[in-house]
Amino acid sequence: MKTPRYTPLAAALPATVPFVGPETQERQRGAPFTARLGANENVFGPSPRAIAAMQAAAADIWMYGDPESFDLRQALAQHHGVSPANIIVGEGIDCLLGYLVRLLVGPGDAVVTSDGAYPTFNYHVAGFGGVLHKVPYVDDHEDPASLFAKAAEVDAKLVYLANPDNPMGSWHTGADIIAALDTLPDGCLLVLDEAYIECAPKGTAAPVDINDPRVIRMRTFSKIYGMAGARVGYGMGAQDLITAFNKVRNHFGMNRTAQAGALAALADNDWLVHVQTEIANARTRIADIAAANGLSALPSATNFVTIDCGRDATFAKAVLDGLIAEGIFVRMPFVAPQNRCIRISCGRPQDLDAFADALPKALHAAGS
Ligand SMILES: Cc1ncc(COP(=O)(O)O)c(C=O)c1O
Repeated sequence: MKTPRYTPLAAALPATVPFVGPETQERQRGAPFTARLGANENVFGPSPRAIAAMQAAAADIWMYGDPESFDLRQALAQHHGVSPANIIVGEGIDCLLGYLVRLLVGPGDAVVTSDGAYPTFNYHVAGFGGVLHKVPYVDDHEDPASLFAKAAEVDAKLVYLANPDNPMGSWHTGADIIAALDTLPDGCLLVLDEAYIECAPKGTAAPVDINDPRVIRMRTFSKIYGMAGARVGYGMGAQDLITAFNKVRNHFGMNRTAQAGALAALADNDWLVHVQTEIANARTRIADIAAANGLSALPSATNFVTIDCGRDATFAKAVLDGLIAEGIFVRMPFVAPQNRCIRISCGRPQDLDAFADALPKALHAAGS
């Protein structure tokens, strides 16, 4: 008998690695990147107060983190004007999405997302045997109306919507999302991924009633708070749903350094405003660089800018390869028609200088 004896589901999953990290690419190319602008990290870094808190907590790392993330949940509850019982803290949104799918999706259950939307969610759905149904983007936006209509058609248990969206940077107003909720079918939960919400214009966050059982919102310390490596995210929703996470979550998944850092980051609003300003400046600069090269940048409510390369996916991929050859780590959407674009994370002036220098060369090499 062959061992190990995988579950039929695990045996059927593709053996490929879904995400190739920049470190892997650096090892493959035998040189570090000059600018790291591909993973929508926050190059401006965490609050100095968060760094100090993590340094101070480092000596206590021999202890497990508080499995209830009590202090952080208290602070988040105060920040959002809700009860700590409405908040689940976990190892980034990516991990919380996995827990959520595990709670709701079994083999054969229907789930809806947009074709080309944030792929980690799809990966979890596949891992629990769910059946993904996809609707197209509309004018480079995820479309709540078609998502919810598809959910009704296939009797979906879960529907995913990122607002603002990755990879296109587009967004809907919170009011429009609340209005669309009227068409969310009974028995279907909306997971509203708000990873980039602090980068978006006022009014983008959907003012969902915290005890509305139809919606769970996901937030993260990876983007505006600049702590992607610490792995801290949280979900906000009705108390029953939040409590259910305790059935499946890794109770000792949070490390105490990350908990201390997130707590300090949340308290430093000045740094948040500073980063928002840096991001706004970088978005303008990226759009200017695109325009100077005859390309157009899509409007963005995130910490990245998606640039329309103006032709097909083959051309966009050639531009991307050219940038990587020039030492600029960037990524691009996976699916047509979004894959006519490349996606550039907001960087410091020196990162964007390097991008500005590399883009004409990449376009030339791509045959522009
Ligand atoms: C839409 C979206 N959700 C979630 C994440 C990941 O968040 P976290 O680092 O909290 O897992 C990302 C990261 O790129 C993202 O773009």
